[in-house]
Amino acid sequence: MSERTINPITGVITSPTSLADVDLFGPGAQEHWYKAYPILHAEAPVLVLPGEGIEPGRDAYVLTCYADIERVVKDSERFIPLMSLKVKALQTMLERGEEPAPDTSRFNMALDSVRTLRPTPELWRAHRQELTDPWVGPGAKRYTAMIRNLADELIDGWIDRDNGDGTVDFIGEFARPLPQRVMARVLGFPRDDVDRLAHWGDAQVMQYVYGKGHMNILSKVETLKQAEQLEGFADYLADQVSSKRKNPQDDMISALVQINYQALGRKLTDEEVYGIIYFMVLGGLETTQYALEQEAQLLCDRPGLFDRLRADSGKIRAFTEEAMRVRAPTQGLSTRVTTQNEVFQGVDVPAGSILHIRFGAGNVDPKQYDCPYELDLERKALGSHLTFSQGPRTCPGAGISRIEQTVAWERLSQRLSSLKYAEGNTFEHQPGIMLGTLALKLDFRKAR
Ligand code: HEM
Repeated sequence: MSERTINPITGVITSPTSLADVDLFGPGAQEHWYKAYPILHAEAPVLVLPGEGIEPGRDAYVLTCYADIERVVKDSERFIPLMSLKVKALQTMLERGEEPAPDTSRFNMALDSVRTLRPTPELWRAHRQELTDPWVGPGAKRYTAMIRNLADELIDGWIDRDNGDGTVDFIGEFARPLPQRVMARVLGFPRDDVDRLAHWGDAQVMQYVYGKGHMNILSKVETLKQAEQLEGFADYLADQVSSKRKNPQDDMISALVQINYQALGRKLTDEEVYGIIYFMVLGGLETTQYALEQEAQLLCDRPGLFDRLRADSGKIRAFTEEAMRVRAPTQGLSTRVTTQNEVFQGVDVPAGSILHIRFGAGNVDPKQYDCPYELDLERKALGSHLTFSQGPRTCPGAGISRIEQTVAWERLSQRLSSLKYAEGNTFEHQPGIMLGTLALKLDFRKAR
């Protein structure tokens, strides 16, 4: 990165005008990602990060082309998920009788459930089909009415403010609590525990917010802070699982503790259930918050679009798919490793290299989409984006997130007649790899 990309006073990256200016991971980089993507597509569709590989002396590679990303995520044997490598390492240690290093983030707990429940591609598929699809995948349709009620309840909290002509803290009063309450209901956590869960959820995602570089590495101090914040989470999970075993209800945890898991021909252990819940809390809260919040901004930026959704709710699904394409909440993840020498866009990538999959950039690749930065509700192949990834490891919670987003905008567009930016928004993004602004105040008018 050249020196002129850094503001000498704030130390923050400024907008890139050439390839030398592009830095996707430094402080403040989030403000300029969408300025960097056209430069990368034109000049460096595979960006090499020298010396940033998983082993000393190795490089890392950022993939920004749709076709490359699609090829990688669809072939999890040739491009192994980093998680599978971690699981293999854990397995080897256990076979040697070694103790894994203490893990304050509790990630090992989740990793261990991957080790026992889905060590092979077949079991990975079965895990999705039997254990998560019925709740957060295609089966999430059963929650549509529940999600509608929760969205309405949140809107009720502010819609009559200032005689229905007021201002809402859109993140704090809608986009954040909606997925939190939805996931608490799906999992079967008591309603009163939502704030505690949100606190633990924040700790789990800390790496994606405060982690440095493309691998989202937390400092020692941050890791300790994370441990402090996660205090009580493991005990809480144990209490919940034990109480659902004694007194099962109609929720995901109760189902998991009772299920006769056909793929393995046995019941799940408590530890396996903890692992599944851990992933649900990690993946299920903030991502959908960011999607809703970016969707609100896209509506405010495009006069007439909210009215269009109000007039034709049949367009809401197209809107949310396009919004997720042009503003992917998970912008990129360093999650795949090459197993053989590869060539991407003319760049040699040796076996054993870490790939940073840049979903956000692949979604606006001009080779894949005409006018890629335009939000086009008539676009063919809506939903072909990479926002939830694709292939065997695609996001298991895409089903419920899609329902949350469409239901949210159905209710907001029916109950409000207008939605605009309020005074005083800075639009500053939070740090890390997710695309989200820190605050968003909107002026609304209640529909009469
Ligand atoms: C707009 C919202 C969301 C976005 C953008 C998103 C995005 C992603 C992406 C990109 C991956 C990586 C897939 C890969 O490596 O190929 C992923 C994985 C994952 N997501 Fe989501 N996600 C969202 C919502 C959710 C929700 C609501 C849940 C839970 C209910 C969830 C649970 C997970 C889990 C558990 C994984 C890890 C994969 C696994 O364990 O099988 N996500 N997600």
